[in-house]
Amino acid sequence: MKELQKQAMKVLENNWKDGFSIPCEALYPFQWNWDSGFIAIGLAHFDMEKAVKEMETLLDAQWENGFIPHIIFHTESDTYFPGADFHCSHLHPSASKKYKSTGMTQPPVAGFALHELYKKSKNKQSILAKIAPMLNKVYKNHEYFYSNRDLHNEGLVYIYHNWESGTDNSPLWDDIFNKMRSPEFTFERRDTTHVDASQRPSKKEYDHYLNIIEIAKTHNYNDQKIAELSPFLVQDPLFNTMLIKSNESLIALFQLIGNNEEKIQQLEAWQQKSIQSFNEKLFNKELGAYIHYDLRNDTPLNYVSSSSFSPLYAGIPTKENAEILVKTMLDKFGNDHQYLCASFDPTSERYNPRKYWRGPVWINVNWILYNGLKKYRFTEIAERIKNDSITLVEKYGFYEYFDARKDKGETGYGGNNFSWTAALIIDMLNDN
Ligand code: SER
Repeated sequence: MKELQKQAMKVLENNWKDGFSIPCEALYPFQWNWDSGFIAIGLAHFDMEKAVKEMETLLDAQWENGFIPHIIFHTESDTYFPGADFHCSHLHPSASKKYKSTGMTQPPVAGFALHELYKKSKNKQSILAKIAPMLNKVYKNHEYFYSNRDLHNEGLVYIYHNWESGTDNSPLWDDIFNKMRSPEFTFERRDTTHVDASQRPSKKEYDHYLNIIEIAKTHNYNDQKIAELSPFLVQDPLFNTMLIKSNESLIALFQLIGNNEEKIQQLEAWQQKSIQSFNEKLFNKELGAYIHYDLRNDTPLNYVSSSSFSPLYAGIPTKENAEILVKTMLDKFGNDHQYLCASFDPTSERYNPRKYWRGPVWINVNWILYNGLKKYRFTEIAERIKNDSITLVEKYGFYEYFDARKDKGETGYGGNNFSWTAALIIDMLNDN
């Protein structure tokens, strides 16, 4: 076995906390929603029992209305802010009585993560029996999204907080935040005691983040009120891609299980509408990329980020538009001095190569792009993304994010021994 894989497995073993994995020590000491999906994919290569458990624990925290929170606070910890006492998930009448959590969600990866577990399993019947109850929960989660977060019945769901996007402080949100008048909050940051502040969001940005949560809390996290009043309301191509890919996975898995015709029909109807609207509303021909749409201010956010290319993973673009996407990726993100794929347009003045989601390379997005490019048979560039990911980890370690500039990087950034980096490197190392 490759040495790198052994090291990756060690990272995952160390971050396993009796039923779930933390993303990394100190910086993220709880269970995160989309992290868990990616982590389960890595675990499935060497410990299927843990992979299943990771997903079961996540889904055990589902609310009665189908919602799955973004952080589940399994333990008390004072190394993270804002914690359970700030989020107050109990304000929502459907919230879990068993777990404290946030009142926001994250990209819905559970459906395709379960499908990956099935694909990797050597005992198909046994894994299907284990994941069948979880599929119903994920289906209920998608029902929640389409019933509560699709304002104009377009098949495109919104996020109400930048933390729901997963790409927390992307420059994409600058225009929205500039329109907000957030009060100055008094609080003690914890992240910047673990990681250099130059690699993390600013205090001003945190004021906006907390402000949106306070507004949602005032209305007990009621979806209708949030849709009406949240200053942040965005249709995000990465988030919707995750949902569409997970729909596709649910269809495939329900077909294998059988006797789920009604659900399959509903999923197919969602798929059709979502993919059509996605291409009509979110593809910007001039930019040659998918963009975000700011529903609150009714305006497209015309910027290119790594999320712009993610729809390849769910088979959303036509072959012709897929070629346009690859050209944009190579022109803006992919010269010889750059590792693929920076999280934000390196030719933009908003690009910051060290700051979290304002520029650095993230391994989970690389994994999504790698699989998307392979699906469309862009084999060479897919291999480049995989090799760049492996090179970065070999050179610097299992960091949270990396500098895309080949000549400038001296270290990885953010947390070290980061679970999804380890998990997805295992997956890519084993994919030929
Ligand atoms: N990633 C966020 C943080 O940095 C929360 O999801 O705290």
